[in-house]
Amino acid sequence: MTKLHSHGSSLPIPSFPHSLIAASPAPPFTITMGRMDRPALCVQCRARPVDPAWRPFCSRRCQVFDQARWGEGAYRVPGRPAAADDTDPSVTDGKQYQVPIIDGTIRATDLKQIKVGDEDVGLATYDPAFMNTAACRSRITYIDGDKGVLLYRGYPIEQLAEESTYLETAYLILFGELPDERQLAEWTHQITMHTMVHENIKKFMEGFTYDAHPMGVFVSTVAALSTFYTDGKQIFDDQARLRQIHRLIAKVPTIAAYAFRHSIGRPYVYPDNELSFTGNFLNMLFKMTELKYQPNPALERALDILFILHADHEQNCSTSAMRSIGSSHVDPFSALAGAAAALYGPLHGGANEAVLRMLKEIESTDNIPAFIKRVKAGDGRLMGFGHRVYKSYDPRAKIIKKAAYEVFEVTGKNPLLDIALELERIALEDEYFVTRKLYPNVDFYSGLIYQAMGFQMDMFPVLFAIARTVGWVAQWEEMLLDSEQKISRPRQIYTGAQPRDYVGMTERRK
Ligand code: CMC
Repeated sequence: MTKLHSHGSSLPIPSFPHSLIAASPAPPFTITMGRMDRPALCVQCRARPVDPAWRPFCSRRCQVFDQARWGEGAYRVPGRPAAADDTDPSVTDGKQYQVPIIDGTIRATDLKQIKVGDEDVGLATYDPAFMNTAACRSRITYIDGDKGVLLYRGYPIEQLAEESTYLETAYLILFGELPDERQLAEWTHQITMHTMVHENIKKFMEGFTYDAHPMGVFVSTVAALSTFYTDGKQIFDDQARLRQIHRLIAKVPTIAAYAFRHSIGRPYVYPDNELSFTGNFLNMLFKMTELKYQPNPALERALDILFILHADHEQNCSTSAMRSIGSSHVDPFSALAGAAAALYGPLHGGANEAVLRMLKEIESTDNIPAFIKRVKAGDGRLMGFGHRVYKSYDPRAKIIKKAAYEVFEVTGKNPLLDIALELERIALEDEYFVTRKLYPNVDFYSGLIYQAMGFQMDMFPVLFAIARTVGWVAQWEEMLLDSEQKISRPRQIYTGAQPRDYVGMTERRK
């Protein structure tokens, strides 16, 4: 389906695939369980290959635990390929269980009815890194990774990047609908009125050494906000919650700008409420002695687009952290500091910084083949490539690539662009990347723009964090108001020592 929107441009509106979308229930799924003649093997002693989903311990060295928990046999779904050592997976006492399928999922707790004995707590699922587990229902963001589709509240990212502003998109993400004029004016007013931070925050930030990584400064300072706004603890008071949301969205650019100025030894610049959200951010970053800072409109718009593109991305690592920390009912400042810490890592929001370091290290297009060879041999990764969800070109990367050229018209071309373009070309033709469906992600080109705009590399993840703040708080609020949610607490498969008696120091010395 294609829609013509107000400016006359034609952008595709995707249709949803069937799975993992709220829909009417499918017929229940029947699992037939059967006892195997021969037990599966041990994750503890690793004597033979093992499928830990079925039977965590063997019945030899790990006998005590194994028998207490699992009895003599192991259970598995017939038809599933046998592990290497399961010579005879035949079913001898099959039972049937009905498990409803709702919205393309089964409830993991429905599997608990599958028990080996009366004292068994029931079957659990094993899903390290949440590769195939939906942990919540969400109305905020939709991604179709195979088709390269990203929607905020149903609106395609391409249309928002072209037509919206960051603050308008933030309102949409948070409240579910685009604002009317009055709502947008009120929202903008609220954010603008909360941009200042307490003077003690400034003093707190001055305590960091000159070479402190701005992201470390950012994470710590956001956490410190919880000590200034004690009403942040009133998370079930609608007004108090909204106040913290205003504060967070408004103050993260100020904290980020202070962290930047601190790192380059310049005095902090107070917010200018006459400027736009992004214009004011540029002011706090780059104002020198002039009485009034005037942001370059092209750069202001490019940064606004980058913020739109990074505003939310459903259940990524940092958002899951926000939800998980928030599920303990801690205040949003503490939860957001945790989310920002998760973002800091080079596999997540730190990737844009890592991309630039990688491009610098490659140094020249001549060195690209050798670099690719190293990556394919397992020595490092091609940063800015690959994604857990996108198995095609990240739609955000396409928009950023276009925006990069617009920025370079103002700033001059980033000399690393040629290396990036050639790296992309070679990788996209290489069998290693093609077969693994590794394409450029949002971080591949964003760093080039940031650098051209005058940001040092270690500021890149901080810029990501500013934009993602609205996504974090929207997902946090959705989690808090979801009656199905409880404190987040995954299960584990224990692979540690058998029960044993404490050994006193004298005995240990022997
Ligand atoms: N370079 C080289 N090989 C890669 C890369 C890469 N960037 N990404 C994945 N692979 C390989 C990986 O080695 C594995 O190969 P094999 O099957 O032979 O073991 C295969 O592709 C699957 O990788 P994976 O690690 O199982 O995939 P994942 O879904 O766990 O990881 C990722 C996703 C984003 C962490 C990973 O692709 C990566 O490390 N990319 C580089 C870091 C990066 O750019 N991160 C930014 C992500 S987008 C911004 C954000 O949302 O945070």
